[in-house]
Amino acid sequence: MKDIIDNRTRIGTSTKLRLLQRSFKENGFVWTFLMGCYYLASAVADKSFALADGRRRARNLPGMNSADMNKLIWNEWDWSAKGEEWTHSPAWKQSVIDTLLAPNIPRGGNVVEIGPGGGRWTEALQMRAGKLTGIDISEACVEECRTRFAHCGNVEFRVGSGTDLAGVADNSVDAIWSFDVFVHINKPQFEAYTREFARVLKSGGAGVVQHGSVGGGLGGWRSDVTTDDVIEFLRSSGLVVAEQVSVWNDKGHEYKAGLYDDVVTIFRKP
Ligand SMILES: C[S@@+](CC[C@H](N)C(=O)[O-])C[C@H]1O[C@@H](n2cnc3c(N)ncnc32)[C@H](O)[C@@H]1O
Repeated sequence: MKDIIDNRTRIGTSTKLRLLQRSFKENGFVWTFLMGCYYLASAVADKSFALADGRRRARNLPGMNSADMNKLIWNEWDWSAKGEEWTHSPAWKQSVIDTLLAPNIPRGGNVVEIGPGGGRWTEALQMRAGKLTGIDISEACVEECRTRFAHCGNVEFRVGSGTDLAGVADNSVDAIWSFDVFVHINKPQFEAYTREFARVLKSGGAGVVQHGSVGGGLGGWRSDVTTDDVIEFLRSSGLVVAEQVSVWNDKGHEYKAGLYDDVVTIFRKP
């Protein structure tokens, strides 16, 4: 049905009327009325999204991605699935670990995870790290992770401001990891974080951060950040972009960094 709605501009008025007539005949009034409501609401929703996105860009609005809104949303989230609702498939998750996490998170290293949520990646990170610090803007996520990883002696979770890594010492971190977090973080907070990456990473330390690519226009509640913004923020913070990955091949299968043309940027401190 969504395909028909997306194609509505290609279907002429007379064809639409004939479709309506046929539907009355084949499905009856109630079904046709309900589907008509769905059709109209979807068309209005698409238009509203496009208008809201345009207004957001024109007026530089935060949309749903300010630090305060992130905090409110994630504090009320149902974390019972521990974030696995965003796992495309078990094979995809394993490939993210094998392809992006393992090569960049050194065994025994001092690791920082930003936005652990329900601990979806924390498990793999904790198994590799000598010490893992998870910093999340949401108190609920910090509580969730403290409970889930209470048996691990090498983890610590704390609530952050949403823009900094307060409490993490300068030049002390081997690797930073963040997935499905910076997709929701707007430019000013993203930029502030990159300065923090430069401060806390040791020379030679690495970061792996997944983020949006086009500034929100594709939906998925993405922030206003583009791939070029990320390059600029990292470079101006003195970090070196090593690689940007949106799609990769693993044992004959193609996997994506995210559902909305998202990108994973891997960077290093010289
Ligand atoms: C979509 S969830 C992803 C959680 C986890 N990383 C995962 O992949 O399952 C987004 C997470 O980012 C956190 N978050 C959002 N904005 C943040 C910010 N500015 N600083 C730190 N954490 C933030 C939320 O509280 C939430 O835990």
